[in-house]
Amino acid sequence: MATLIIHGGAGGVRPRAERDHIAQNLLTIARNTWQRIHAGTSALDAAIYATVQLEDDPLFNAGLGSKLQCDGKARLSAALMDGAMERFSGVINVEGVVNPILLAAQLQGERDRVLAGTGARDRAIELGLAMGDARTERSIRAWRERRDGSTGTVGAVVLDHEQRIAAATSTGGRGFERVGRVSDSATVAGNFASPNAGVSCTGIGEDIIDGALATRLVAHVESGRALAEAADDLIRRMRQRTWSAGLIALDQDGSWIARTTTDIMYWVAIDASGEHRFADPDD
Ligand code: GLY
Repeated sequence: MATLIIHGGAGGVRPRAERDHIAQNLLTIARNTWQRIHAGTSALDAAIYATVQLEDDPLFNAGLGSKLQCDGKARLSAALMDGAMERFSGVINVEGVVNPILLAAQLQGERDRVLAGTGARDRAIELGLAMGDARTERSIRAWRERRDGSTGTVGAVVLDHEQRIAAATSTGGRGFERVGRVSDSATVAGNFASPNAGVSCTGIGEDIIDGALATRLVAHVESGRALAEAADDLIRRMRQRTWSAGLIALDQDGSWIARTTTDIMYWVAIDASGEHRFADPDD
């Protein structure tokens, strides 16, 4: 029984029109990904596909339209975890690569599977990946005005028809961060999967790393706990610690959850029972 869940970040409640726009774009991306999963695309390829679509949408803080760092540059981070193979790859603070998830995907087959900065950029050029500036007029204006210009980090977790799980996460970071700051999204705290479960996180990277959220939730499922129960315990602990973060996750049975300590997290899931999406506070 295949299952798909994607997110477009967690944080504050955006204006109604923007929330509707986010919901519509997430739904379109989820439906396109779901069609591919049905046609036999693997969990790994489906997670990559969904994340590329999210990176290409300037509405989200990943790929094109990402938040900018303190010096006004876009440095992107992404990670991919093949749960069936238990293999992680990632890219940290790469400049000039608009789809960092595609670089992470290439690194799945390489010896050096997590690359940062200029080394990551050099490898992207060698591999012939599309290069470009991830900044948009909107993201530059937001940076100039010191505004939080876009929504959040993106991610996708997929269970395919062969019971394989994959997780992908991509981000422009927290926004206005010091050059050299490392996002959770390219670590196993922010993106993790095993044969049993997969998780993608969004929120403040430092909080997600402090909580080792993705690995911790997968470990709970591996120890036999039900996904929803383990996620609820984790959310309680996150609230006690005042960690600002959300996560999407699924397990091998096709159960899925979306939980956040923030006011809202934008997500869409598709499973055998149909389509599901975040609750709008005005509905
Ligand atoms: N979760 C994105 C970041 O803090 O970098």
